[in-house]
Amino acid sequence: MSGGFEGKVVWITGASGALGRASAERLAAAGATVIASSRRRETLPESERIVPLPLDVTSSAAADAAAQEIVARFGRLDGLVTSTNVPVFGDFLELDDAAWQQVIDAKLLGTVRLVRAALPHFIAAGKGSVVVLSGRGGIDPSPQHLPGSSVNAALILLVHGLGAVYGPKGVRVNAVSPGPIKSPRLDALNAAGTGKPSQTPIPGPGLPTDVADAVAFLLSDEARFITGANLFVDGGGRALP
Ligand SMILES: NC(=O)c1ccc[n+]([C@@H]2O[C@H](COP(=O)([O-])OP(=O)(O)OC[C@H]3O[C@@H](n4cnc5c(N)ncnc54)[C@H](OP(=O)(O)O)[C@@H]3O)[C@@H](O)[C@H]2O)c1
Repeated sequence: MSGGFEGKVVWITGASGALGRASAERLAAAGATVIASSRRRETLPESERIVPLPLDVTSSAAADAAAQEIVARFGRLDGLVTSTNVPVFGDFLELDDAAWQQVIDAKLLGTVRLVRAALPHFIAAGKGSVVVLSGRGGIDPSPQHLPGSSVNAALILLVHGLGAVYGPKGVRVNAVSPGPIKSPRLDALNAAGTGKPSQTPIPGPGLPTDVADAVAFLLSDEARFITGANLFVDGGGRALP
């Protein structure tokens, strides 16, 4: 798949991160106009086809306003990719409520807020596609990443439910669950001492572009009959004991 997104507008949050940025570049190369969001304007990608739009996903009002601004400015919204990450790692007994709350607010509720902001526009158009970045930890938890793993499990369930509810309205909702992907986040997880080697049947770690290809596929019309699904991009690692 190379093109396929000409004339389409895709909103990516967490776009300054390793996987969000790779997805933004992948979709822009395929012809999309990409609206790139995260909190800090200065770290967002920007190019002829990538338009930065700073946003903190912990605010529902800001998420709603951003969706409305995109539709007002570009005339349409075809896709949403949520790729927010909160790097909270550590032993269970060392992580307090505030640490858990941070992950739940930005990644779980952040995704809820973004989908809620974009859905009315998709429903009005009779079509739209959402890809939520979850993680393999959602079914195979990392001992040093239990807040993130728990939220990833919740997101897989959320996607499953949203796929069923909004399929009849023409809206597809899917998840991508990366395993170890070469990134600062993987370095931080390894530094926290996961207790588990990140071994994969296909030698890894994977690359951000591996995830971006999966995101682009699920977002595209080539995935027209796929919704509520969770696509692992983990080199087959979940199969290992
Ligand atoms: N990398 C991996 O190996 C891996 C493996 C499994 C799952 N995942 C999942 O894949 C997704 C992307 O991971 P990544 O490695 O690309 O993460 P990353 O490089 O740490 O990027 C995180 C992104 O989230 C943004 N962000 C954080 N809090 C935000 C907030 N309140 N509002 C708006 N944006 C916010 C950050 O930008 P600002 O700080 O500027 O806001 C940044 O753009 C995450 O959901 C992660 O859990 C990654």
